[in-house]
Amino acid sequence: MFETAEARRVDNFGAGPAALPVAVLREVQNELVTYRQTGMSVLELGHRTSDYAEIQGEAKRRLQRLMGLSDDFEVLFLQGGASLQFAMVPLNFLDDGQTAAYALTGSWAKKAYQEGKLVGRVRVAADMADMGYRRIPHPEELTLDPADAYLHLTSNNTIVGSQWRDFPDGLDVPLVADMSSDILSRPVPVERFHLIYAGAQKNLGPAGLTVVILRKSWLEQATARRVIPTMLRYDTHLKGDSRYNTPPVFSIYVAGLVLQWLEEQGGLVAMARRNQEKAAVVYQAIDEGNNFYSGVVDADSRSDMNVTFRLPTEELEKKFLQEAKVAGLVGLGGHRSVGGCRASLYNAVTLDSCTRLAEFMTDFRKVNG
Ligand SMILES: Cc1ncc(COP(=O)(O)O)c(C=O)c1O
Repeated sequence: MFETAEARRVDNFGAGPAALPVAVLREVQNELVTYRQTGMSVLELGHRTSDYAEIQGEAKRRLQRLMGLSDDFEVLFLQGGASLQFAMVPLNFLDDGQTAAYALTGSWAKKAYQEGKLVGRVRVAADMADMGYRRIPHPEELTLDPADAYLHLTSNNTIVGSQWRDFPDGLDVPLVADMSSDILSRPVPVERFHLIYAGAQKNLGPAGLTVVILRKSWLEQATARRVIPTMLRYDTHLKGDSRYNTPPVFSIYVAGLVLQWLEEQGGLVAMARRNQEKAAVVYQAIDEGNNFYSGVVDADSRSDMNVTFRLPTEELEKKFLQEAKVAGLVGLGGHRSVGGCRASLYNAVTLDSCTRLAEFMTDFRKVNG
């Protein structure tokens, strides 16, 4: 007679903020009014309390374990989204007289590049725009210069739906990556990077938190250059243990629960296996149908996180999205800048959701193809 909250949940393929594990939502609910022995909600908990310090410390340790971070790296919990990192990276690491290189593999990569341009001298290491961002550049297509301050790349291109399968190795310059839409979805060779950043709202937790993983020795070399406002300096947050000012306490708490959930799922190797399986189910529904659906991205650059596809006409796309919504398959519209369809399959999206989407796609094709 009573429908449970779980039964009313849709299959959420939104690009972000995105699906969270139900087990995490339930744990938040359990603890919401009174968090453990504190006698208050996490929403009411001071950021200088030992209870909060424990929440933040635990979240950090779990992230370090999951990503296999050595002591060379520091983890910062910041705000301002990945978009603020577009500015903070060059502000802190692009000195006057230097040039920073950017691989332009999608709209977010371009935004990072344009923001860098506001701060200092930047150049393009590869520009895939002419190809409609349909693929990731091969290593030999990157123009590298050992004098560059860093090379910036976007590991997963959320809008077009492409993903770096491997990362440049043996670079002479520091490698910086925006991993907003695939952090923690697979193991990455962190030792190749000097800085990794990600907005939390896709794979890590609620909006309002940005995670920065920073090679400490790089920051030590980079301090005391141009005048940088206090809040935009990485060393402010490093010295302040991410509590120079009030951090997003609740978002960090929920991210901690997501990280715990990831550990319980078997870590990043297990997540990668599951994510590949999920993506394969949806890509198969795209590929099996005599070009009724067409993938936006070349096969070897396809993302496991954001599966993008078109239908023969925009009218059919509209119909597809409407009928999908009625079937409880939600958030499938492409980014407003490109249209089409996009299924975001972040960690918390289940294989069952993907299977239901693939079945819906097959049925829709049979009726409308
Ligand atoms: C790859 C990538 N970078 C940056 C951003 C911007 O993130 P934020 O909204 O946290 O500034 C997004 C948002 O979707 C993204 O997907």
